[in-house]
Amino acid sequence: MMKIAVLVSGGGTNLQAIIDAIDAGKITDARICLVLSNNKNAYALERAKAAGIPALAISPKDYESRDLFNEAMLEAVLGSGAELVVLAGFLCVIPPRMVEAYPNRIINIHPSLIPSFCGTGYYGLKVHEAALERGVRVSGATVHFVDAGTDTGPIILQKAVEVLSSDTPGKLQLRIMEQAEWKILPEAIQLIVHGRVTVEGRRVIIAEE
Ligand code: GRF
Repeated sequence: MMKIAVLVSGGGTNLQAIIDAIDAGKITDARICLVLSNNKNAYALERAKAAGIPALAISPKDYESRDLFNEAMLEAVLGSGAELVVLAGFLCVIPPRMVEAYPNRIINIHPSLIPSFCGTGYYGLKVHEAALERGVRVSGATVHFVDAGTDTGPIILQKAVEVLSSDTPGKLQLRIMEQAEWKILPEAIQLIVHGRVTVEGRRVIIAEE
């Protein structure tokens, strides 16, 4: 049974997709041992509590320095016994010590087809504003391993979503969440839990079932 810590900052719809996938048997042999948020008001914490999952909020404001916050975050994750860390709408930078503690065992969901519209400053609606401004006909979502960079780790899964002429950033965001994020994040977790994902250099190899 793989223990998973899910880090959140906002509404928690991706967390909910993971919870629902476990309940539906689409993710097997895994359980969420901790939901941790940097935002005490994140609705994702309510979702965790409703599902009976241990939930913890630690705010950078409560620590004298970012380093002390980072240490507290790492201690909480390690203390939960998590073997996989999932960033589900988590907006804090992951400190190098956490990346070192979890080599190719931290994954992130990003709402674009990396390497487009990613990196510093590309998060939430800003990603979709940039996609619409560039006029792409296709966008989507990416699940990738977290390395020392921002959205630069090996890509595990991607799913494309058509961009419509009538799209606003909000409409595109919702469609990418519904059609891509909420599907490929649980799928990536199931692949990892069942040992079907290996990293060779910057490439991810997914073993056939
Ligand atoms: C989603 O668009 C996700 O791609 C991004 O954060 C947003 C909020 O997700 N990383 P959630 O509803 O909090 O899961």
